Amino acid sequence: MKKIFDIPLNRKNTWSTKWDLYKNKDIIPLWVADMDFKSPDVVENAFKERIEHGGYGYTDIPQELNEEIIHFYKKNNWLIQEDWIVWLPGLETVIHQIYNLIMDTQSVIVPRPIYPPFLNAAKHSNKKIIFHDLEKVDGRLVYNLEKLSEEAEENARMVVLCSPHNPGGRVWTRAELERLAAFVRRHDLILVSDEIHHDLTFGIKHTPMALIEGIKDQLIMMTATTKTFNIAGGHVGNVIIESPGLRDQFAKRMTALHHQASLA
Ligand SMILES: Cc1ncc(COP(=O)(O)O)c(C=O)c1O
Repeated sequence: MKKIFDIPLNRKNTWSTKWDLYKNKDIIPLWVADMDFKSPDVVENAFKERIEHGGYGYTDIPQELNEEIIHFYKKNNWLIQEDWIVWLPGLETVIHQIYNLIMDTQSVIVPRPIYPPFLNAAKHSNKKIIFHDLEKVDGRLVYNLEKLSEEAEENARMVVLCSPHNPGGRVWTRAELERLAAFVRRHDLILVSDEIHHDLTFGIKHTPMALIEGIKDQLIMMTATTKTFNIAGGHVGNVIIESPGLRDQFAKRMTALHHQASLA
């Protein structure tokens, strides 16, 4: 039996962002994290079921979906509760709002390189952005915690982590995450951890930041199932925040988006 990865999928002229950009040019677009393979059968079957039903009206997040999410993250030993989950139309939307959680007088530490929307969002925010240039040690990108501590002195209130790291491809070790968590605690920061690629690690163990001790009150976990199931165009993401105070603050900010669930 042929596997999905053995069957090429021609996405030209199918309203694909990356292929449309180079329409009529001899260029293979490799720049965006969606795949030129079919999505798994479970996705196709769910779409078929909906099409056969034929109803596309308004919907709300069903409880079963929250239960599925809770079950999905259990595989990483990460036990979440239903009311910790905030649903949003994709993580890029969140990235463009997240710096608004802090005051204009406060600053946010953004590592570089990083998934570009974190930098674009910085340009459009009123906050002071402190760019932390990741260092290369033995061919791997790492945070320089000494420098980070100096940077935190500049009225920092938030620090960003991309885990696994895009574009560096790093799956951070537990020890690295523990050191970063200790830094966050020491400086009383909010840690924003974008973990959308948690399943794409070529067998290397990914540790959710939420499993690191002592960080839960300061942690915003951003994640999604869209990369895992190759449904990036579905535009749906989860922000999971255990701390009720931080979650409330975040959810209030996000009400401006007036997000409702999408059937797709
Ligand atoms: C690190 C990272 N975060 C967020 C996103 C975008 O997520 P979404 O499709 O949910 O907007 C991507 C997309 O490639 C990404 O690489």
